[in-house]
Amino acid sequence: MKLEKQTPALLQTLQLIANPTQFFDSCAAKYGDTFTMRVLGFNSPPVVFFSHPEAISDCFVVPAIELDFQKATQVFKPLFGERSIVLQEGKLHNRQRQLLMPPFHGDRMKSYGENICQITQEITQNWQVDSVISISQVMPDITLQIILQVVFGINPGTRYEKLKKQLTSLLEDITKPWYSSLFFFPPLQKDFGAWSPWGNYLKRREEIDKLIYAEISERRLEKDDLRTDILSLLMSARDDNGQQMTDKELRDQLVSLLLLGYETTAGVLAWLFYLIHSHSTVKEKLREELDSLGECANPESIVQLPYLTAVCQETLRIHPIALICTPRMVKDKVEIAGDKYTSGTILVPSIYLAHRRAETYSEPDKFQPERFLNQKYTAYEYLPFGGGYRGCIGSAFSMYEMKLVLATILSDFKLELVGDRPVKPVRRGITIVPSGGVPMKVKVRS
Ligand code: HEM
Repeated sequence: MKLEKQTPALLQTLQLIANPTQFFDSCAAKYGDTFTMRVLGFNSPPVVFFSHPEAISDCFVVPAIELDFQKATQVFKPLFGERSIVLQEGKLHNRQRQLLMPPFHGDRMKSYGENICQITQEITQNWQVDSVISISQVMPDITLQIILQVVFGINPGTRYEKLKKQLTSLLEDITKPWYSSLFFFPPLQKDFGAWSPWGNYLKRREEIDKLIYAEISERRLEKDDLRTDILSLLMSARDDNGQQMTDKELRDQLVSLLLLGYETTAGVLAWLFYLIHSHSTVKEKLREELDSLGECANPESIVQLPYLTAVCQETLRIHPIALICTPRMVKDKVEIAGDKYTSGTILVPSIYLAHRRAETYSEPDKFQPERFLNQKYTAYEYLPFGGGYRGCIGSAFSMYEMKLVLATILSDFKLELVGDRPVKPVRRGITIVPSGGVPMKVKVRS
């Protein structure tokens, strides 16, 4: 294991914030699969990044009791709420996962398919031939509406419009450095009234919460057993002890799902449109595959298409939206890939670097969906959604969603990238998205 000593801690932190992928590339080139940084500021604990599959596998199996996840996730508390799954540990974390996982898996997913395609068509129906649209602006609109309708089960109407408006503006602000610094520096979290930055945030949060609590209490009275949205399923779910979620727990999970599920999937979709349209053979193969479904095209047949699946997998490999898994702090001592780490060390499996290892992926910088048709990768070589007991609970849902949104738009329109400016990965909140907004011209609509 190598320790980066030449660059001061503050500079390392700034490099990581300003240009994270370049920072990781240069560290991996200098130090290899495992390296230790001081990234949180002066006197910060050592942060060890891993990209070798064996080390990542070891990280995932360290018993939860030996690790502290809260230190690194505290920053999310004012946003997600203290009962959020992301902030839980041990038994409470298990309980939340047990309640949250079923609605996001298996047959449940099938009931969301038609809705996803319909929302996509509604939002794109006004696209005119020769007009230019910014994919990076449209995709969050689509994924937010999908989350509100499919996850929250809120249908268009006054509350839906109010929530959509308030969430869009808050989420937009959160991605701006000046607003997001409020969450990273607790001393800034002082309420001096609605005109102060923190007071303004608290007021906006209160308004959003009011709408969410109103929806929950209306739903408690409604007792409609036919509802299939995730909020309804969570309201009726019980843990091993027969306990249901409280209103506060429901609110915190909903907000967490929203914040984790909407920008992420929208970011992958922006990469997908960019990569497909900048690789003409991939675009043609994908179109052929979609056309081959003919009259049989429906959500279930679409999501099973092998080439479409490979294109989504390769996009998430080459541009993972989250570069790292949840950081975890060693409580006493642990051993990873033969090395010992002591109390206070922060362990971070690096998704980005694992996906760029030349030992695992031939020509790792090339976009080659075929690699996923020809080879299988282990859960420690390919991990866009992290893994182990902290892995993403929305992985199956977002794969399902991105395939349907993409297939719907590709079937309805022919698009073309505008301009030939090089596109770089840039930070937007906690995600890494394509620079420049991915402007595209509508060439044909069917
Ligand atoms: C392409 C889209 C997405 C990507 C790339 C992604 C990626 C990730 C990653 C890397 C983690 C950390 C995993 C770890 O530490 O091992 C995570 C956690 C999580 N994700 Fe996602 N995610 C996506 C979409 C979603 C969606 C749609 C939802 C729900 C609606 C969601 C809910 C969560 C939750 C609740 C956690 C925390 C799990 C826990 O702490 O136990 N994600 N996601």
